Amino acid sequence: MPGRPAPSRRTVLRTAALTPVAGLGAAACSPGDDGAAPARPTAPVDLGADGAVAKGATELDRDHNVVVSRAEDGTLKAFSTVCTHAGCPIRKLDGTRLVCPCHGSEFDARTGEVLHAPATVPLIELPVEVKQGRIVASPGT
Ligand code: FES
Repeated sequence: MPGRPAPSRRTVLRTAALTPVAGLGAAACSPGDDGAAPARPTAPVDLGADGAVAKGATELDRDHNVVVSRAEDGTLKAFSTVCTHAGCPIRKLDGTRLVCPCHGSEFDARTGEVLHAPATVPLIELPVEVKQGRIVASPGT
């Protein structure tokens, strides 16, 4: 009884080339993919004019991996936006929610608190002050 012909060597190789390899999809992001980001800035970061962040507003500085927000009482808070899970820079701010592209952790940009795992550690808070009319975040310690 004739069965299916054995696949040729070429068919086997073509199939192998088209088969996705587990673990090499979008989740393969690593800190080095986007340039190794230090956990906190290495120098003071100018976040713009004092009036640029209104009460209740949140601004993400993607170039320096810093987010700043101003509470309704006028208090400024700043955090490093380098993810505490595996160090990916966070580039997405959805309202006040920071979303990490690597494994989906989410943080509250106003408090640094983790909103969604896998991260379990809050974002690093940075000292922030107004100097000569400019909002400046410092690396801190
Ligand atoms: S690095 Fe893994 S969720 Fe951000």
